[in-house]
Amino acid sequence: MGSIRIEGLGRNFGGVTAVDDISMEIRDGDFLVLLGPSGCGKTTLLRMIAGLLEPTGGRIVLDGEDITGTPARKRDVAMVFQNYALYPHLSVARNLGFPLRVRKVAKDEATARVDEVAQQLEIAHLLDRKPKELSGGQRQRVAVGRAIVRNPKAFLMDEPLSNLDAKLRTATRRELTDLHRRLGATFVYVTHDQVEAMTMATRIALLNRGSVEQIGTPEEVYDRPASVFVAGFLGSPAMNLLDATVLSARGAVRAEAPGVRADLWPGTTEDIDVVLGVRPEHLRPGIGTEPVALIATVDSVENLGSEEIAYCTVGDAVVCVRSPRPIAMRAGQSLTLTTDPEHVHLFDRASGRRLEWIDTSQPYDYPVSSARSLTNA
Ligand SMILES: Nc1ncnc2c1ncn2[C@@H]1O[C@H](COP(=O)(O)OP(=O)(O)OP(=O)(O)O)[C@@H](O)[C@H]1O
Ligand SMILES: [Mg+2]
Repeated sequence: MGSIRIEGLGRNFGGVTAVDDISMEIRDGDFLVLLGPSGCGKTTLLRMIAGLLEPTGGRIVLDGEDITGTPARKRDVAMVFQNYALYPHLSVARNLGFPLRVRKVAKDEATARVDEVAQQLEIAHLLDRKPKELSGGQRQRVAVGRAIVRNPKAFLMDEPLSNLDAKLRTATRRELTDLHRRLGATFVYVTHDQVEAMTMATRIALLNRGSVEQIGTPEEVYDRPASVFVAGFLGSPAMNLLDATVLSARGAVRAEAPGVRADLWPGTTEDIDVVLGVRPEHLRPGIGTEPVALIATVDSVENLGSEEIAYCTVGDAVVCVRSPRPIAMRAGQSLTLTTDPEHVHLFDRASGRRLEWIDTSQPYDYPVSSARSLTNA
């Protein structure tokens, strides 16, 4: 078992608030990814869970037990560091066995356990080598092996793949998700790489300036971003975001921006300043009579091999369109782009929070056809 409850956790460094009153529930068996830009507080949060850094306020509860004041070595969690932190003068076998020696596990038992873990991670042939005689990928496995050797309740990993080249990183992603499945343990994994987060996480917590912007499954955060920040962080290229106004027009709720008209749903609304978002993969050439129309000029087209990206000007904004190759657009062309109304995201411009279309006459809030008012989600 390894559920971790974080309650109002905070940490200041002098005048800097690195982690600001964070609360979250990490369930047993979760692969929770802490995702966010550099400096948002990911490492600080992870180090507090590990017991390597004291919080300024709040509590950490592991399986119902308050461990806020428990020293790191007495917490039943194991940390894998970005630089692996292997002991250079010890062999792989002794590096793997280190956590067991510290805990005074009997020698035979420790040797058997090291062999077992080495088999599991396919590093049994490396047991007599020193870390400097290993490749980056092999070092990374030894670091993971040292964490799993004593069966902790939770694994804490801080950017463990960032020192690997792109190809090895992709392969290792799959190995880690496999390992997570086999061990059935709780993983808390820090990265600033959205692809790692989307492919490995059971849930993603998106951090911004020491606070949680959104926590949810990869699908939830990608399909229904809770804020402009989340919308702009996930996706490559990121979601197109345009300043727009929501208003009533001819019995429809419409969003308007220079070069953009989006009739979203039947109904009426007060005028609201919004940010309108559409993902590049949801835009396609249209004929102009669709409910959503963007008048665009194509500036350039980029070939990514399997896909192409068209960079367009709409009003005075840049709008990206992504599609399998060949994309039906050429540089210099003027055309109308369209999308389905359900692919239009709206965010309150003042708060940056998602606006959800609530239909008060129906039990479902999405999708809706006869909505009355926009409310803050
Ligand atoms: N020991 C420290 N002393 C002073 N400030 C610190 C210390 N550790 C972290 N900070 C500050 O706290 C904030 C959060 O840092 P943290 O290392 O948690 O970010 P991060 O999300 O892990 O970033 P990265 O992706 O670059 O690793 C930053 O502003 C950082 O400068
Ligand atoms: Mg960090």
